[in-house]
Amino acid sequence: MTKKKILITGGAGFIGSHVVRLFVNKYPDYEIYNLDFLTYAGNLENLTDIESKPNYHFIKADIVDAKSIFQLFDEYKFDSVIHLAAESHVDRSITNPTEFVMTNVVGTVNLLNAFKNLWKDNFDGHLFYHVSTDEVYGSLHDGGFFLETTPYDPQSPYSASKASSDHFVRAYHNTYKMPVVISNCSNNYGPNQFPEKLIPLFINNIRNNKPLPVYGKGENVRDWLFVVDHARAIDDVFHKGKISETYNIGGFNEWKNLDLIKVICKVMDKKLGRANGESEKLITYVTDRAGHDLRYAIDANKIMHELGWKPSLQFEEGIEKTIDWYLANQKWLDDVTSGDYAKYYDKMYSKR
Ligand code: NAD
Ligand code: TYD
Repeated sequence: MTKKKILITGGAGFIGSHVVRLFVNKYPDYEIYNLDFLTYAGNLENLTDIESKPNYHFIKADIVDAKSIFQLFDEYKFDSVIHLAAESHVDRSITNPTEFVMTNVVGTVNLLNAFKNLWKDNFDGHLFYHVSTDEVYGSLHDGGFFLETTPYDPQSPYSASKASSDHFVRAYHNTYKMPVVISNCSNNYGPNQFPEKLIPLFINNIRNNKPLPVYGKGENVRDWLFVVDHARAIDDVFHKGKISETYNIGGFNEWKNLDLIKVICKVMDKKLGRANGESEKLITYVTDRAGHDLRYAIDANKIMHELGWKPSLQFEEGIEKTIDWYLANQKWLDDVTSGDYAKYYDKMYSKR
């Protein structure tokens, strides 16, 4: 019997690398193909522990390039797709929305077309799994949670591009009967996250005694999930999810930014042997993000009850693990924050 070929896009990025690792280790009977264009956010260093496994393969390709995507599907005949490749940072989407349309919308449609073209005569046994975000539902201004049935109301160019890609995926199911499934997850944190996002940025700045740029008053609320738990959820949705369904993923773990930042400061003081309260002095209030969504909160009851998934870690344990990883991997941090990233940082924060 030939082994199932699973294409994972964006596998050199933060969440993708954890998904690739889980699948390569847990499913030796699958051939795992990691397709990634290695943008600033993609880093093969994230996968050194599994890169020599016989069921792991890396393909460098751009999902925006329809011709090469079609050729790759023709050559490898991927049975199923788990699609994570994307531009993922809200601040960058404010500066350069078109890039988000190209990668997140056009790139997704290219993959849908290539998959459809390959399997249109018989979709049985194949799946196109699209990994999305809770940000498509917009911003909550009072109590309540995002449900799978919450109407889409994206507010940033990033979330608008992800919402658009989700609509295309559903449209391909409705129109062509393509077997698809979508999950929408809350904010992830953990090892290997690029330090432009809140948690690794602040860990890195505390380490280097640099100001901690809090947008606005720090009152925005996010719902944080440890990345390995997201990867476990993706495994469950891929194997047990119902075709054409949506699954919201989250850990019922809401934090106001300022409270979360204070926890990071406290743990960092302890780990770095600094006096309690030392790192908090680095907090600096800066101009708010344009159109800053106030609150995200996921109702994860569907995936918990229907697929039996639940988070494996409490937040306190997850944040310690994360900080320990960044402190033990300073070379990784120094490598990814040099060069182009240093320019991005100056541009993003010097005018705030
Ligand atoms: P990331 O930015 O860390 O990684 C994205 C990866 O995609 C990188 O490896 C990059 O090289 C690759 N990529 C970008 N453009 C590409 C292109 N044109 N062709 C091929 N590869 C390309 O992102 P992440 O945080 O790991 O997010 C992964 C997915 O999960 C995204 O679809 C994102 O929308 C979704 N998501 C993220 C979060 C979060 O908190 N980070 C939460 C929910 C959903
Ligand atoms: P981020 O990690 O960019 O994720 P998202 O915007 O997709 O939720 O930001 C998390 C929260 O932290 C968000 O409310 C914006 C805020 N934030 C800051 O206050 N300062 C920063 O430098 C960054 C990057 C984010």
